[in-house]
Amino acid sequence: MNTFILGIESSCDDTSAAILCNTRVLANIIANQDVHKKYGGVVPELASRAHQQNIIPVVDIALKEAKINKNQLHAVAYTRGPGLLGSLLVGSSFAKAFALASGIKLIEVDHMEAHILAHFLTDDKDKNIPEFPFLCLTVSGGHTQIVKVDAHFEMEILGKTIDDAAGETFDKAAKIMGLPYPGGPVLDQLAKDGNPEAFHFPEPKMSNFDYSFSGLKTSILYFLRDHLKTDKDFIEKNKADLCASIQKTIVSILMKKLVLAAQSTGIKHIAIAGGVSANSGLRAAMLSAGEKHSWHVYIPKLDYSTDNAAMIAIAGYFKYMKNEIASQKLTPYTRQSNKTL
Ligand code: KG4
Ligand code: ZN
Repeated sequence: MNTFILGIESSCDDTSAAILCNTRVLANIIANQDVHKKYGGVVPELASRAHQQNIIPVVDIALKEAKINKNQLHAVAYTRGPGLLGSLLVGSSFAKAFALASGIKLIEVDHMEAHILAHFLTDDKDKNIPEFPFLCLTVSGGHTQIVKVDAHFEMEILGKTIDDAAGETFDKAAKIMGLPYPGGPVLDQLAKDGNPEAFHFPEPKMSNFDYSFSGLKTSILYFLRDHLKTDKDFIEKNKADLCASIQKTIVSILMKKLVLAAQSTGIKHIAIAGGVSANSGLRAAMLSAGEKHSWHVYIPKLDYSTDNAAMIAIAGYFKYMKNEIASQKLTPYTRQSNKTL
């Protein structure tokens, strides 16, 4: 029997609805919120208001694109956390009301687990599904961690950032350079025409598998401030080289710990997930590390790297199969520490 799941994602500034038939994506609709551009970052109150405006249209479009009727749905899965409280409340309230009104099951999903489980979406026929156990470098705007994945919901964090996340570092570096928000993808694009060896930025010396990015952010800030004193056009003249050098440093920091974790666990199935897994430098570094260390490498499609509801729906599908149904009384959580992951 086919199982149809509606997924709802609203943890930050993307409102998304997706529909799966088992593990296959029938629709994955994402409404981005342009309202934050002029503020150079996400404004939580504006994000929740935009979610309220977008949520019904995205669900409507997803149902039409999937060519299914809402009576055919078996469950609605939603992001319970982590994320911005006001944003999470819109998605969770919608999902709860939808489940009640349609008489279908309600399933709560952890956003970070969902980023990893996106690897099990099978809309491509020849899709390579990770084998357990695998390591997943999960890199987003708020999180950076190396996760050992033993089963769909058995995950252990081997290392994580002690300060800024990798996505945050891309965004902050871009902001210091005066690039438009969101900075990560813009910096990635500009880096393509630059020389990654043009400038040198220091890498942190952290023990075990943990990361730190705050020192890099400060060194970029001071480096640019010093050069701007003698040449006010320094950034403009060196934009592509600066982006390429910053990107190379972030990717190098990420990859060194991942290689270390792979060597120390002996695991050869290695994945990346989360918004920063869309980065072209990180993708290329994964492929070459895969060749060098004989890894099986898993890189998500761009659509499933950054925030999307298909990943919420696939996590929901696996919970539905285990009959893990959520209570209407659950409240959102904003930080990951409330959960194992
Ligand atoms: O997973 P995600 O969409 O949202 C969160 O859960 O945080 O990740 C968003 C982060 C942002 O910091 C964004 O700048 C970064 O992912 N990002 C990128 C790229 N695309 C998105 N960073 C570098 N290069 C990219 N191509
Ligand atoms: Zn995310």
